[in-house]
Amino acid sequence: MTATASTSSPSLLSSTSRSVVQATAAVVAEHAEQITARFYARMFEEHPELLRVFNQGNQATGEQSRALAASVVAYAVQLIDPDAPSFDRVMQRIAYKHISLGIRPEQYPIVGHHLLAAVGEVLGDAVTPEIAAAWDEVYWLFATQLVAMEARLYQQVGVDPARPVRPYRVVRRIEETDDVVSLVLEPTDGGGLPQIGPGQYVSVFVDLPDGRRQPRQYTVSSTAVATRLQITVRRVRGVNGAPDGMVSSFLHDQAAVGDVLDVSAPAGDFVVQASDGPLLLASAGAGITTVLPIVEHIARTQPQRKVIVAHADRTAQDHALRETVLHVGRQIDDFSAYTWYESVDPADHRSAQGYMDLSPVPLDDDVQVFTCGPLPFMRHVRASLLARGVPASSIRYEVFGPDLWSPQD
Ligand SMILES: Cc1cc2nc3c(=O)[nH]c(=O)nc-3n(C[C@H](O)[C@H](O)[C@H](O)COP(=O)(O)OP(=O)(O)OC[C@H]3O[C@@H](n4cnc5c(N)ncnc54)[C@H](O)[C@@H]3O)c2cc1C
Ligand code: HEM
Repeated sequence: MTATASTSSPSLLSSTSRSVVQATAAVVAEHAEQITARFYARMFEEHPELLRVFNQGNQATGEQSRALAASVVAYAVQLIDPDAPSFDRVMQRIAYKHISLGIRPEQYPIVGHHLLAAVGEVLGDAVTPEIAAAWDEVYWLFATQLVAMEARLYQQVGVDPARPVRPYRVVRRIEETDDVVSLVLEPTDGGGLPQIGPGQYVSVFVDLPDGRRQPRQYTVSSTAVATRLQITVRRVRGVNGAPDGMVSSFLHDQAAVGDVLDVSAPAGDFVVQASDGPLLLASAGAGITTVLPIVEHIARTQPQRKVIVAHADRTAQDHALRETVLHVGRQIDDFSAYTWYESVDPADHRSAQGYMDLSPVPLDDDVQVFTCGPLPFMRHVRASLLARGVPASSIRYEVFGPDLWSPQD
């Protein structure tokens, strides 16, 4: 399930706006984060109902603000620069995130209004009517493409954007490690499971004890039972005085068997295709949740396909889903597993100490890499693979937060 991205081209922007955007892109880029920070403050003041759909953790850390700023600047740049890299993947990621949250076309004028008003507030008198009109055009080109892509995705997954979630009952809790719990979920509405691509996520909406409603994305970590999906949640602890994670703490401490959670249709383009070559799945920490569904899928559909799993974690005790991945991997003809731990148990002679080092791992020329973990980890994996000659186009990654990487890539 993929959306066909509508590729942007320089001719999309009118020639007047083109020269204005060319002249002002640098100053907008310089102030972009200030603009988007102001934008969210304004928008939430006027539309407090949107606090229930925006991740308030990402608001507190400023990550969503940075992701929005980076995407708008990158979009404008590829409109005016014919040599800019394709923007399709960034568009697709945003569109999938939006459909998992039930974003609707009628909300685009709200965002557009507050974003452009924030540009005016931050840049002041420097924003002439021509400059405002040019950036309004950029916004609406971006918005129109997203709306079209989202409409196609809603149709593909058979979801009415007015009702983006279905109720799922927690039927099992599996304490995987001290910090990681899997929740097995079953739809309560009598319908079957939707089609779930290996590596896709769902948005889970929870009603917190203080009355707030919040969504978070969780990878579907297993579909081993055809009528149930599983999510696997790492507890996020606050560091340096920051609060503990809202939703992960709630799911760890409060979600009990029998409870009902609102769950979106599966979304995301971090999906293994049948035509891809041999696979290297490189994960760290909670990124392991993307590995199990891919290994399960290959075992079920292409057991002759070569799979290497490489995982880095603090210790073996923190390495969630380890036994399950190895167990399912046994059904694959050519399956190998490598592990790196910051601290290795003396009795463990199979794991390496320290950060992941893929240099001793033999790789086929046509290897396809799927990597998931913290950004520094994925940057390290990508750099080491590029140095070994793996083409950038063969390396896919999933960011467990607003994607601050692709727009600058
Ligand atoms: C596509 C995708 C797939 C994902 N899959 C998984 C998965 O399979 N498993 C998994 O465990 N996670 C997954 N995640 C991450 C998950 O969605 C959540 O981000 C994660 O569970 C943390 O949510 P939370 O509500 O617990 O933390 P939040 O409350 O959102 O907090 C996030 C961070 O912000 C900090 N913070 C919050 N408020 C403040 C403040 N006022 N000041 C300073 N810092 C603050 C917190 O300390 C914490 O470090 C995925 C994310 C994405 C985007
Ligand atoms: C042209 C217009 C828009 C652009 C460029 C845009 C851009 C983005 C980007 C870059 C992200 C982060 C994606 C990621 O996770 O990597 C995002 C997420 C999101 N967007 Fe939009 N968006 C637009 C319109 C809207 C509208 C109209 C709404 C509805 C109110 C909306 C609601 C959201 C929400 C709720 C998220 C998730 C936020 C989070 O998890 O912190 N967006 N958008």
